[in-house]
This record gives sequence, structure tokens and C-alpha cells, in this order.
Amino acid sequence: MKILIAYHSFSGNTEEMAEMIQARIESFGYQPELYEIGIGAYFPELSDYDVVMLGTFTWDLGSTPADVKDFVADVGYKPNNIAVFGSGETQFGGEEMFCLAVTKLAKFYNSPWEGLKVEQSPRGSQELKVTNWVDGIIEGVRKEKEQKSWMTAGV
Ligand SMILES: Cc1cc2nc3c(=O)[nH]c(=O)nc-3n(C[C@H](O)[C@H](O)[C@H](O)COP(=O)(O)O)c2cc1C
Repeated sequence: MKILIAYHSFSGNTEEMAEMIQARIESFGYQPELYEIGIGAYFPELSDYDVVMLGTFTWDLGSTPADVKDFVADVGYKPNNIAVFGSGETQFGGEEMFCLAVTKLAKFYNSPWEGLKVEQSPRGSQELKVTNWVDGIIEGVRKEKEQKSWMTAGV
């Protein structure tokens, strides 16, 4: 299974999430690629991956950071296998604005998975949220791939 974790982080919380997600995926025996939006020297070809996990913080009254918007524009189409995660803080506008960039991106990509939202750092009590989110995605994609290979067996 080929997995890309593309993320953008300003103060490190979304990066911690990306690394936690990476470690969880590795525990299943897969080797996900980590790509830092706005920093990576190459631009990934999204169609090469079974799943793309897209991470972002939320800024300025529920805004998506400019670098993430640029990434979305550079991708240029809407892959149907994007799972969105991110960090935010309820102190910046309450539940309504909390991780709004995650909500907006998941909707934009019509993501089959619910966005993962974490309050500041994912360490501690929120770790379980992260692992459950990863497990759900991996299990779903694995089943889908199995089904596909079963359907085309002998072709
Ligand atoms: C000026 C400013 C505006 C922010 N606005 C929001 C917001 O609208 N919604 C939200 O959930 N978090 C908001 N945050 C909180 C950040 O998203 C949060 O600190 C997040 O953990 C940062 O992620 P990072 O460490 O990956 O950069 C804001 C933070 C700052 C400094």
C-alpha cells in the first residue's frame, strides 16, 4: 500500500500528528512517505498513492494556510482518496472555527473519511484519536484492495 502524508505545520503540532500517523502506519508494515508542503524539493504525483493524508493547521478565523491552498491548486484535480487531518485551538473562535481548514478540505475533496481534528499537540489523551483514525483508513483501504484483486483474479 502506497501512502503519502503531505502536511503543513507552523509551530509543530500538525507535524507531530504527521509523525504519529507515520509511526502508526509503519506498525502495519507499510512505509508511508512524508512530504512537507512548501518545503519539499519535489512535487509528489498524487495518483501514485492508494491514500493521501493531507495535514494542516487552521489560521485567522478558520482560514486554510496559503501554502496549503497553493498545494491544492498545484495538484490541480480532486483525487477521491484524500484523508484530512489537522491541529487547531478552540480558543480562536470556539467550535465553529475549530480546525475549520480540515472541515473545508475534507468537503472540497469529498473525502470518504471524517477529518481528524486535534486540539494543539496530539500527545497524551488525543493519541488514541489519531491511532483510531489511521486504523480505520488502513483497514478500509486494505479491504478495498483485497476486493479489487479478488474481482480481477484470473483476468
Ligand atoms: C493568529 C492565529 C489564528 C488562529 N486561528 C485559528 C482558528 O481559526 N481555528 C483553529 O482551530 N485554530 C486557530 N489557531 C490555532 C492553530 O491552528 C493551532 O495553534 C495549531 O495547533 C497550530 O498548528 P501547527 O503547530 O502545526 O502550526 C490560530 C492560531 C493563531 C496564532
